[in-house]
Amino acid sequence: MPLSPAQRAAYERDGFLVFPGLVATAEVALLRSEVERLMPVQAEGTVREGATGAPKSMFRLHETDGPTASPPFRALSRTPRVLGAAKELLGDEQLYLHHSKVNVKAAIEGSVWPWHQDYGAWQLDGIQRPDMATFMVALDEATEMNGCLYFLPGSHRWGRTEAYLDTSTAYRLWSVPPAEMRRRMAESPEPVAITGPPGTAAIFHCNLMHASGHNLSRHDRWQAYFCFNTCANRPLDVPSPRADHVRSRNWAPMQLVADDAVLQAGRAARAAAE
Ligand code: SIN
Ligand code: MN
Repeated sequence: MPLSPAQRAAYERDGFLVFPGLVATAEVALLRSEVERLMPVQAEGTVREGATGAPKSMFRLHETDGPTASPPFRALSRTPRVLGAAKELLGDEQLYLHHSKVNVKAAIEGSVWPWHQDYGAWQLDGIQRPDMATFMVALDEATEMNGCLYFLPGSHRWGRTEAYLDTSTAYRLWSVPPAEMRRRMAESPEPVAITGPPGTAAIFHCNLMHASGHNLSRHDRWQAYFCFNTCANRPLDVPSPRADHVRSRNWAPMQLVADDAVLQAGRAARAAAE
């Protein structure tokens, strides 16, 4: 899916692109069945919250091993729609995933992600340059009520803002201090809510300020994230590196698969189970 010059210009200007209907209804159904299968699985990379213990995040879906491995999510991350677009925008043929995850944000209990830049954490992982981008795929209708993502357009061009470790939710997040955020937002266009039906997708720059609110609705808000890095920009050694599910050491360049590979992966899993 080659991007148009207008899309490339919009990414440079705003730091994100939205792709309505990128993932088809049948693919969303298959990916949702994978989320249901993985939610009860106990794994190092699954962070739970609330009285129900629903996952806030489930990591490491894209590998071929481990308790949360999911062939359909792995396939999706390698389709031309996803990997091809990431290659174009990062200007590099050789990409790997720093991590992948589904953020469940359960009805009523699913909590806020404060304003942050992803590179705030990733540079602490030893990554030297902000040559990274994240693909988000909505697996539910994303609404303002259920805690959709918000992007601050153009904020990736500010460079990196000093972050602090916000420990107020189950996932400890390197976030932008509130006073700094108030100052920045006063000078910025209004945040953009990334809403839309299941299958809506977006890609965003690792220095783009983004956040999402508490899920006040009675519906879960399931969203998948694939965080791409260039192989050349793989992390340098750091003292006490974070675990593999969040700071991958699999730096092998990802290979493109056919666009129907997600459904094929589902068919293969069903055949193996018979
Ligand atoms: C993130 O920024 O990593 C997650 C935000 C969300 O799921 O709303
Ligand atoms: Mn983020």
